[in-house]
Amino acid sequence: MLLSHLLAAEGVESVIVEARSQDYVLARIRAGILEHSSVELLCSVGLGERIGRDGLEHRGIYLQSPGERHHIDFVDLVGRSVWVYGQTEVQKDLVSARTAAGQQILYGANDVSLHDVASDKPSVRFTDSDGSRQHLDADVVVGCDGSFGPSRDAIPDTVKRVWERVYPYSWLGVLAAVAPSTDELIYAWHPDGFAMHSMRSMQTSRLYLQVPNGTDVNQWSHQRIWAALAKRLGHTPGGWELTPGPITEASVLPMRSYVQAPMRYGRLFLAGDAAHIVPPTGAKGLNLAIADVALLAPALVALLRNNDPGPADDYSDVALRRVWRCTHFSWWMTSMLHVNGDPFDAQLQQAQLRWICTSRAAAAGLAENYAGLPLGQ
Ligand code: PHB
Repeated sequence: MLLSHLLAAEGVESVIVEARSQDYVLARIRAGILEHSSVELLCSVGLGERIGRDGLEHRGIYLQSPGERHHIDFVDLVGRSVWVYGQTEVQKDLVSARTAAGQQILYGANDVSLHDVASDKPSVRFTDSDGSRQHLDADVVVGCDGSFGPSRDAIPDTVKRVWERVYPYSWLGVLAAVAPSTDELIYAWHPDGFAMHSMRSMQTSRLYLQVPNGTDVNQWSHQRIWAALAKRLGHTPGGWELTPGPITEASVLPMRSYVQAPMRYGRLFLAGDAAHIVPPTGAKGLNLAIADVALLAPALVALLRNNDPGPADDYSDVALRRVWRCTHFSWWMTSMLHVNGDPFDAQLQQAQLRWICTSRAAAAGLAENYAGLPLGQ
């Protein structure tokens, strides 16, 4: 959606083929944190009004280990903040803007396949929501279809390389209709497992618990969830308390890292989760997808309008530099905060947390990555 918005601003027409229904994409709970440069980009293309009104600007995060909660102030350390503004809200803003501009968005597409992507005339075939077969001829196809879509598999095995890490734990995530018990996000290391307190607004909290892989969400009553959150997040001096409230959604999220290269094959370009997955610790997934299309849009404009293939030829290499930086950061945050049953690792994790909380240089490293690199890097 953002790519179509950026392309349209430069006079390049696109058609969006979406597997899900509009109701589904406007309702599903996704990421919640926008980096500084993601916000700047959205504002620069007319999508900043609701972010400015409803978004919450955060100076930093709290890092917690037993007995201690420490604020890492990104603004003080690197001069950049982050914003709490849900991906679901970004999606609503994009749907309004693109619908007002007459963008073709074909929801409910099935059996999508890509053809002739190595040629100058690639095409996409699919069954539309009325059950008719459709065929779209294009100048380029951009796979923004996530890890389950057909695009990543349209790059031949002889061309692509894949790197993957599956983590031995998952997150149980809940959305709760209760004001957050904190002004900024809390990331907590605890011997029972990681816990996090995030939010979507001043009325809605988003909380996570580390759970074993294969956990059935039905094994966790709402009472059990709040008790575990209170124990893991409440392990601080000073009488802080977590306020529980009605849980409106609960689900288990697996954690993995995945990178596929190259992100371009002929006239097929990959962006976002189609090419890379990060574990959610550090909130990089959505921001990385935004960074991909911020790079890709001008590259496609140069290719299609100015006959200049240079930026499109460079797209994969340039995008992958940021992808690997964020892959490292997400892996590092995940490895530092999740208990894996190894007592040696538990000591290393606490030593690492103590270092970040006592060294300005170490804290600045975290802040630089979390608040995000400038776009185009
Ligand atoms: C979220 O609010 O969903 C969220 C925030 C920060 C993270 C991960 C998830 O690191």
